[in-house]
Order: sequence, then structure tokens, then C-alpha cells
Amino acid sequence: MSLRLPPVIMDNGTGYTKLGFAGNNVPSFVFPTVIATRDSVSTSTSGTALQSKPSISGNIASKRGIEDLDFFIGNDAILNSKTYGLHYPIRHGQIDNWDQMERFWEQSIFKYLRCEPEDHYFLLTEPPLNAPENREQTAEIMFESFNIQGLYIAVQAVLALAASWDSNKTKDFVLTGTVIDSGDGVTHVIPVAEGYVVGSSIKHIPIAGRDITYYVQQLLRDRNETSIPPEDSLKVAERIKEQFSYVCNDIVKEFKKYDQEGDKYFQKYHGIHSVTGQPYEVDVGFERFLGPEIFFNPEIASSDFLTPIPEVVDNVIQSCPIDTRRGLYKNIVLSGGSTMFKDFGKRLQRDIKRVVDARVKKSEELSGGTLKATAIDVNVISHKKQRYAVWYGGSLLGSLPEFYSYCHTKAEYEEHGPSICRHNRVFGSMN
Ligand SMILES: Nc1ncnc2c1ncn2[C@@H]1O[C@H](COP(=O)(O)OP(=O)(O)OP(=O)(O)O)[C@@H](O)[C@H]1O
Ligand SMILES: [Mg+2]
Repeated sequence: MSLRLPPVIMDNGTGYTKLGFAGNNVPSFVFPTVIATRDSVSTSTSGTALQSKPSISGNIASKRGIEDLDFFIGNDAILNSKTYGLHYPIRHGQIDNWDQMERFWEQSIFKYLRCEPEDHYFLLTEPPLNAPENREQTAEIMFESFNIQGLYIAVQAVLALAASWDSNKTKDFVLTGTVIDSGDGVTHVIPVAEGYVVGSSIKHIPIAGRDITYYVQQLLRDRNETSIPPEDSLKVAERIKEQFSYVCNDIVKEFKKYDQEGDKYFQKYHGIHSVTGQPYEVDVGFERFLGPEIFFNPEIASSDFLTPIPEVVDNVIQSCPIDTRRGLYKNIVLSGGSTMFKDFGKRLQRDIKRVVDARVKKSEELSGGTLKATAIDVNVISHKKQRYAVWYGGSLLGSLPEFYSYCHTKAEYEEHGPSICRHNRVFGSMN
């Protein structure tokens, strides 16, 4: 066998699944991580999906029976939500229902990618601090149900770092940096030193895309935006967030701008009623900058979590080994849909710098002027591949010739059992 087919890269997020083949610049498919099944329609309305116990039932041969094909994933699932029950198999980045996840993978592979899994290696992604049991379970499904050739499970943050190499135009593969991965369900700040995640220093922030959408929805509701059909209100809030939001420099000044030059800042959202097909308009105002502001001033939306994201980043880096800190401040890499707000990186860099400079100044004062600290370089890297950074990092690694030597192969799996997949080698760790 001389010709190898490209590895499949699958990044299953809480909100969206990114699917495609190694070597490509963008995923071939991006769709919501949702599955619609016949069996428990009633659970969908209450919003509490039935939890099936983690079980690896049957294998793909029996799954391919006609009766088992009666389900939809992604946008097709949403279109069929009136007659099928909707389930979200991933919660806060973690696989929550293995049966549903297996079926979701099944259609991802056969209906979307349209490939034969036995002809490919697979790269899957996992959130930081994922339990080894989850990797074992994933491996069991991948090797036994889908009979794949080889498997590598990569930490999302490490892939996001790899995605930024390309934009830096350096080929020296810096695997030290702080990743801010903010998707739909969770935001993580993850320090990575030479390819290894500094697990004890990771922080998770309970503010991500969905929270911003809810906040925008609430702002629109508070403003009595009566033109929005109630059944569309969440979708409209999400669209308004994605199309019109940006991060400002200073909220007080921003409110003033809207007062003084309203024409320049107020916008209109044009929608079509999902049931009647009638067009409608929504005025879009302060929510444009207030939505993403909850990262920087969380108290405006919640009383549970109050630490601004720049402080979280600073705390994370300060809790890492002292010799890694400069590298971590120098390469703060953004990843995920909720880092896409215009000027997010700029504001974050400015605010982290303020925190760092204030600390340096204080320590100089405390030393009575005897200590002169060298300046710390704070860089927040925004880059073109940021939206799908995790997937793109996977695509890059998957296209390196040495990728195959990092994978667990089908033969190894059969010889040693699923427990070998509890650990995956760190890229760059082999000579
Ligand atoms: N241009 C944009 N501006 C702001 N937010 C956006 C933009 N595009 C997408 N988003 C938001 O990004 C989120 C999806 O991001 P992403 O695909 O990275 O998440 P995920 O991987 O599914 O979730 P997680 O990483 O939390 O498991 C959604 O909340 C979406 O509304
Ligand atoms: Mg993600």
C-alpha cells in the first residue's frame, strides 16, 4: 500500500462540529452538534434529554440496519425537530451521551464525509483535562464500530497553538503559549509549555457564546423589541450577536457615541418570520458592544462569576512555573467562534498589559526603587484561522508525515486493548 488517504479531522464542539480532511484550510462541513431521534420526542420539549448510560452497544454492522438509520444530525436534525427529539450529545465540551455520539459520528462519516473509515486515520479533539476513560471509550467506538486504521486524540488547545504557527510564518513550531479557546459552551484559558498543557493552571470561565446570546436576547427583550417573533428570539439574538457585535474601548464613552452620533452606530437587523414568512426589522443598539463586554465586565450580566477575562489570563500565567511565564505572555493565542468579535484581541492585550504593568510598578515601589524589572512583552495573537483554529491545527498536524507515528494503530489496539488510547503522545516529544 503506497498511497495513503488523508486523515479525517473531527472537532466535535458543544455547539458546532467541524469535519474534514487533513491538509485542507477549512473544514468541509460545519454543523450544529445535535442529533434528532425518534425514540424520545417528549424529552426534547422539557429540554432535559434522556441520559443513556455510557454503553458501547452493538457494532456498525447492526447499526446499519434500516430501522437504526431513522435519525438526523446537524441542520437536518433541527429541521426535523417537530417530529423527532433533539439531543445535544456534548455538554461543556465533554461527551455526555455515548450512544448518541456514536450515531452522530456514524452519519458524520457516512453521510457527510462519505468515506470508508477503514481507509483512514482519524484525529479527534478533546477539551483540556479530559478523563482518560473518555479516550478509552472513544477508541472503542472508533476501532470497533468503525474499524478505523489509526487514532490520535489531540488536546484542543494544543491544536489551536499549532494553528497560529502558520499565521506567524514561523516554521519553528513554537508550542509554548496561552490559548484562549472560547466556543459556544465554554471558555478555557490554557497554558501550554513545549507542547505540554500545564494542567494545574488551567482556568475555565463560565462565559461563552451561548451566554452572550442569552444576554443579547435579554437586552432586546428589556428594550421591548416587539417585532421579533418569540419562537425566533434566540436565533435572532445569535445572528445579531454574530453580525453586529464588537468590543469597545470603554463602555461609558461608547454610550456617549450612540447618544451623539446615533446614525453612525444604530443598525437594523432584517429578519423573516419563520412561520408566516413575513419580513420584519429590529433596531440594534447598545447590545452591539454590551454583549461581548461581559467577558471584560462580567458583573453586568451575572452575579456568580465576576473576574474579568484579562485578570483570569494573568492569574493563569502567574500560577505557572516562573521560567515559562515570559513565553506564555508573549504568545497568547485566540481560538473559537467567541473570540471573533471585532477588536477582542486588541482590548484583551491592552487590559492584560495594564494588569502586568501595575504589578511590575508595585514591586518596583515596594523595593524602594532598588529593583528595575525588565518589561514583559504581552502579545495577543489574532489570526485568520482563529474561527476554526482547533480544526485547522488538526489539519496541519494530520498532514505532517510523522503524524502516523503518533497514532495508535488498529493492530496496536487489537494487541493491547483500548487502554493504550488513554494516553496520546505529545507532538514534538519524539526525535
Ligand atoms: N463572527 C462571530 N462573532 C461572534 N461570535 C461568533 C461568530 N461566529 C460564531 N460565533 C459564536 O461562536 C460560537 C461557536 O464557536 P465554536 O464553533 O468555536 O464552539 P464549539 O467548538 O462548538 O464549542 P466549545 O468549544 O465551547 O465546545 C457560537 O456561540 C457562535 O454564536
Ligand atoms: Mg470548540
